Amino acid sequence: MKYLVFNSKKEASKEAYTILKSLINENSTLGLATGGSPIALYEEMIADYKAGNFSYKNVKSYNLDEYVGISYDHPESYHKFMKINLFDHIDIKKENTHIPDAGNSDLNAVLKNYQEQLNSADIDVQILGVGSNGHIGFNEPGTPFEKGVHVVDLKQETIEANSRFFNNDINLVPKQAVTMGIKDIMRAKHIILLAFGEAKQYAIKSLVECDEITENIPCTVLKNHPSVYVLVDKEADFKK
Ligand code: F6R
Repeated sequence: MKYLVFNSKKEASKEAYTILKSLINENSTLGLATGGSPIALYEEMIADYKAGNFSYKNVKSYNLDEYVGISYDHPESYHKFMKINLFDHIDIKKENTHIPDAGNSDLNAVLKNYQEQLNSADIDVQILGVGSNGHIGFNEPGTPFEKGVHVVDLKQETIEANSRFFNNDINLVPKQAVTMGIKDIMRAKHIILLAFGEAKQYAIKSLVECDEITENIPCTVLKNHPSVYVLVDKEADFKK
């Protein structure tokens, strides 16, 4: 695992893009995340695309998760997030992008369908954020590592953390999501995890410094992965 600390989110995201570009080509498959952590990386991707240096015409993408219970037009749905923060600004083809169809009321069919899609995909690089409790994707503490795509009841701390995107009103935050499992995340060839701000110190310390790999802190599973880059700002760095 490579652990890299930067003065700012911007610097970390620039380096994340340099690493990403060294690991992919214009036919690669990306695993994408939402939330605050990857936004500056997506800005780097967009800027480089606009400069004519990279095309996403043949790139495929698979997102980690989607909320259950809000429409895709909702500004905080992950379908909308990906359009606003990345897809609308690059030449990726809509049919090559995949996000769990969690708005479909037949959730069993959604899980089966997304699992089949993931099983036939070979993700070259998975982008990850991490929750303050160590969740990756929406695999909350206690989730068995061998679980695939599933519906998750979000933990109270996750609902509270994400209320910043919902007018700080926890009642507006969806309580469930469909997420890739840890097993699916671990199949990616390379993983780039981004973490910014003091609230991430516990998760980062558990991942980088402790020897224990435990389902109680899901990100610790990444110690078992052969190619992981962890990029943080100095606030998330546990050694400060
Ligand atoms: C998002 C996701 C989550 C977030 C995590 C951190 O697709 O799967 O694991 O990465 O909740 O969120 P932010 O980046 O908003 O701090």
